Amino acid sequence: MAFALKNKFLVFILIVSGALASAMSRTLSETVVAEKYKQWMAQYGRTYEMKEEENMRFEVFKNNLEYIENFNNMGNQPYKLSINEFADLTNEEFLAYYAGYKIIPSTVSSKTKRFKYQNLTNVPASIDWRNKGAVTQIKDQGHCGSCWAFSTVAAVEGIAKIKTGRLFSLSEQQLVDCVRTKGSQGCKGGWMHDAFEYIVKNHGLAEETRYPYKKKDGTCSPRKAAIKAVQILGYEDVPHKNEEALLKAASQQPVSVALDGNGTAFQFYSGGVFTGPCRTSLNHAVTVVGYGTSEDGSKYWLIKNSWGKSWGENGYMRIKRDFNSKKGLCGIAKRASYPVA
Ligand SMILES: *[C@@H]1O[C@H](CO)[C@@H](O)[C@H](O)[C@H]1NC(C)=O
Ligand SMILES: *[C@@H]1O[C@H](CO)[C@@H](O)[C@H](O)[C@H]1NC(C)=O
Repeated sequence: MAFALKNKFLVFILIVSGALASAMSRTLSETVVAEKYKQWMAQYGRTYEMKEEENMRFEVFKNNLEYIENFNNMGNQPYKLSINEFADLTNEEFLAYYAGYKIIPSTVSSKTKRFKYQNLTNVPASIDWRNKGAVTQIKDQGHCGSCWAFSTVAAVEGIAKIKTGRLFSLSEQQLVDCVRTKGSQGCKGGWMHDAFEYIVKNHGLAEETRYPYKKKDGTCSPRKAAIKAVQILGYEDVPHKNEEALLKAASQQPVSVALDGNGTAFQFYSGGVFTGPCRTSLNHAVTVVGYGTSEDGSKYWLIKNSWGKSWGENGYMRIKRDFNSKKGLCGIAKRASYPVA
């Protein structure tokens, strides 16, 4: 009897101390997260008008941080995640603000026929167009679905440097303001095809400094668009769903591609060769500015993004190449195109 009683008491003590310990670790980690949140707000100059907003954003931040730490703690992942300037956004919000590629309806026959690199042989094993001075610094599209304009501009900057020897930083805002079609609507999203076509018809694109980026829709300014830095003759599609063709094109110039940037892992990618998870419904546009093989032997595409330098490898991502699907990982080989100069 005495024994049983003592035991019950012990059980009681264990339960109480267990609850205390877990309550303590909860508050402790809450404090740690709160401290990280404060540091993060300071680092990215984030302020919220309302306390409710700040509290709500804190919950989002905490969920993201948990996802990131769980992912990194899983070990043997080929890539890493980290907190970046998008840490207070859910993945849905993030995509709504920072993507902007529109899926081309199958009714729009958009594929060009000629592929000038079709018969190319001796494709180099790796290339990095940054080392050839054909890539401008990482830009930031802000809360505007203008990825399509950034993807276009990076490809045009590249071919202009390759053809003329001069690297100009060109205007995305001109495309955001002046390309108006059914599919391309400034910050509401667009297509690189429309942008290439506009540049051809307009006989060129202005420099960034003449027509600076505003992170929002504006009215097309013929005055700012008048002085053109770079002209292109046209554009061509890389044969769809063909990574080998994409390789040929990317060996000759930076190439505009669309991909599926859906998912928290993509949002917080910070380095290594990205291997998914992702699907292939295209919602974001970037530019392939190289390819190669990492030290551990994984083949990758080097992509230039427009989400600032806090994302990825200083704004870039290496994403798995030669994926066992014709579409490529995240659909990267589905809709590639490049300007012709
Ligand atoms: C590639 O070679 C084939 C066969 O010689 C030729 O018909 C085709 O026009 C070539 N393509 C290009 C883009 O030069
Ligand atoms: C992202 O993925 C989720 C879940 O798979 C899906 O519900 C959502 O529609 C996707 N969003 C986009 C933009 O593809």
